[in-house]
Amino acid sequence: MHSIQQYQEFIATYLQAQHRDKEPKNLYDPIHYILGLGGKRMRPVLTLMSAEIFDTDYQKALPAALAVEVFHNFSLVHDDIMDDAPLRRGNPTVHEKWNINTGILSGDAMLILAYQYFEQYQPKIFRKLAKLFSKTALEVCEGQQWDVDFETRNDVTIPEYLKMIEYKTAVLVAAAMKMGAIIAETSKINASLIYEFGLNLGLAFQLQDDYLDAFGNPETFGKQVGGDIIENKKTYLYLKAVEFAVGAEKDKLVHLFSNQPEDSTEKINLVKELFNATGASKATQQAIQEYTFKAFETLEEMNIDADKKAMLRAFGENLMGRKV
Ligand code: IPE
Ligand code: IPE
Ligand code: MG
Ligand code: MG
Ligand code: MG
Repeated sequence: MHSIQQYQEFIATYLQAQHRDKEPKNLYDPIHYILGLGGKRMRPVLTLMSAEIFDTDYQKALPAALAVEVFHNFSLVHDDIMDDAPLRRGNPTVHEKWNINTGILSGDAMLILAYQYFEQYQPKIFRKLAKLFSKTALEVCEGQQWDVDFETRNDVTIPEYLKMIEYKTAVLVAAAMKMGAIIAETSKINASLIYEFGLNLGLAFQLQDDYLDAFGNPETFGKQVGGDIIENKKTYLYLKAVEFAVGAEKDKLVHLFSNQPEDSTEKINLVKELFNATGASKATQQAIQEYTFKAFETLEEMNIDADKKAMLRAFGENLMGRKV
């Protein structure tokens, strides 16, 4: 096994080796730009880690790991258009730096590039990876559509929210890990347990993404703080705040999430106060812990060495402490 930092270095080196000066520049420059901004590279790290957990050299998993990361970056470029987001990884988003059409087409190209990485695998493995990838990618689109649909609804339930984040975020984390298992040709039961682990970790991850969107430090967060509040996103924070709020507080919150004022500063401050005062912030923190612990439970059933379980556990614990 290697450390997280080592896996990140393997990914960075492999990514650099892919670089070709291709034309048209306005198609490829944004792709290099967004991938070059890095980010945590959590999903490809998990693919490499998963391959090694099931006793296969991480190098065999590099193309799949990059496929997942390129797909993730595609989804971010389009997500930033849909969410009207100005900042990504501390820098202007692709559609801000270029324009919306460039973001759409460069995103499309990234989706296709992602698929191409699977061509490096033998037919039996290729088939399994491509099948899992297509299913996952379609689910991400479904989750993203729900996310947008919920912006203009005021009757979204917690189960609906959980389904939405499972699809837009958790399934990709789960698939990233299952790909490592597929490449390692481990047992079906191990592959499905690692998927389950990734899914619960992914749910915790999105809950925390929602939390940080409101309460992250603007200096270090890398995205616009309060972006979800501006866009009236029906996050766990919001849904719990509405559930816990009473009387006038509840009406105030629902009203605040029914329009988009020109100047959002006051709205953001009021909403954050209500998230804290109602206990929604605390409930969100608790849910993050719950889903992380649920992920740890699936480790118990997995047929792998104790030190490998400890490594996955440490990864989950680290995620809970993240600030970006
Ligand atoms: C952001 O993902 C989008 C979500 C699914 C929450 P990350 O937080 O993994 O973004 P990067 O890749 O590290 O920038
Ligand atoms: C994004 O969710 C999920 C996907 C990109 C598929 P968010 O919209 O919350 O992600 P961020 O906060 O912009 O990174
Ligand atoms: Mg977004
Ligand atoms: Mg979004
Ligand atoms: Mg977010």
